[in-house]
Amino acid sequence: MFDTSVLRTTADRAIVLYEGLEDAHVAASVGHAELLARLAGPCPEEGADPEQVIEQLLAGCEGGLVGSGGPRFFGWVIGGSLPAAIAADWLVSTWEQNGAIYQCSPAAAVVEEVAGEWLKEILGLPMECSVAMVTGCQMAHFTALAAARQKLLTDRGIDVGRVGLAGAPPIRVLTGAHRHESLIRAVRFLGMGSDAVAEVALDSDGRLDLAALEQALATGGARPTIVCLMAGDLNTGAADPFTEACRLAHDHGAWVHVDGAFGLWMNASPTRRDVLAGCELADSWATDGHKWLQLPFDHGFAFVRDREAHRAAMSMTASYLLAPEGTGRDPMDWNPEWSRRPRGVVAYAALRSLGKAGVARIVDDCCRLADRLVSEIGALPGAEVLSPARMNQGLVRFLAPAGDHDTRTDSVIEAVRAEGTAWFGGTTWNGMRAMRISVCNHRTSDHDVDRTVAAVARVMYRMRHLP
Ligand SMILES: Cc1ncc(COP(=O)(O)O)c(C=O)c1O
Repeated sequence: MFDTSVLRTTADRAIVLYEGLEDAHVAASVGHAELLARLAGPCPEEGADPEQVIEQLLAGCEGGLVGSGGPRFFGWVIGGSLPAAIAADWLVSTWEQNGAIYQCSPAAAVVEEVAGEWLKEILGLPMECSVAMVTGCQMAHFTALAAARQKLLTDRGIDVGRVGLAGAPPIRVLTGAHRHESLIRAVRFLGMGSDAVAEVALDSDGRLDLAALEQALATGGARPTIVCLMAGDLNTGAADPFTEACRLAHDHGAWVHVDGAFGLWMNASPTRRDVLAGCELADSWATDGHKWLQLPFDHGFAFVRDREAHRAAMSMTASYLLAPEGTGRDPMDWNPEWSRRPRGVVAYAALRSLGKAGVARIVDDCCRLADRLVSEIGALPGAEVLSPARMNQGLVRFLAPAGDHDTRTDSVIEAVRAEGTAWFGGTTWNGMRAMRISVCNHRTSDHDVDRTVAAVARVMYRMRHLP
């Protein structure tokens, strides 16, 4: 029997690190040169003992890891990982199943199929949708927009999978300036080119302006069009007016895609889902599992109402793949990858562990705590709220006596990170530098908000009174 002891010792070490996130310094404390000095060198000629490999890896990375899975990381929208999800992730690695086709792992295929059904239900999406389980929202955009491209061009007599885009009418993509850049990258990946993106004005509330959308749709003639809506602006949490925007887009024969990387999870909360009213009228949706569902990284989901378009865009076959009639769902028909880990197993475990009530609780807690953080930091002397918390997002900035608020804001963000209690990111919003506050971790509590506000106050006091 070969030696598996490294699996046990590593699990123990990982658990200690996971628990230690409660009180660890949140920012990385070691820089690039030091990390390279520890980790680089010639590729080893000979192998090493696995225990030693892990010891060296842990030692080499010490101080270079950011506490982004911990309760006081408020930078980008990064969730934590649930114990059940981490455990299932370990299982997926040790099972070593290929999640490409049913025949390769009947159990994994069925678990993914069930998880897909549960996700549609919890996210309030039409149950007829097809599902793809991909690496993140970036690839969910890619998958959903591939289905959109397929459908829009099939309707014009073009089989894009066979003849490609040459000779096809150029597709245009209408979206607001609040879109996430991953959407543009998906457009580029799909050969539509970033020039295909036409920006639609936003209203004073940061949502897509309906009159501007109507005008843009009306001026497009017969050009195939995708309208991309936001369920959660990454700075302000604003959600687009879905009901009216979907109606306008559909009246003009356009496909509607929703970026719901984090915001789509508002539908899991019975008391907050009204902000997404009409979102279910769209044609495709992209979201993340590694944000509000609290899965480890590597989890995104695409949902497509037109199953045939989705399947036509993704499916493939080969002589050695043909399954007997009546076997289960082949994930490869819906995903862009061939061989893949059956990552839906992890989503299944998280949904089982939390239930609908547990997901709703996390969403509600994060929104409530974001509201506390934004208003309490914004109320500190020398600070102001730029955008009050909506969903789990808000913006504050810091005011300099001499008037250079941008520099002051960046300095406070830097100093708070160096202090180590909490971690915030910066952004530019309406031409102003701002501290972006995102709360997306199941471990964040009122106590973490208290500690964080006290830490920011301490840092600001020091900046005012010490040279
Ligand atoms: C609104 C939005 N869309 C898309 C993405 C891209 O998601 P991912 O990084 O999972 O690919 C993000 C990531 O933070 C996001 O916030």
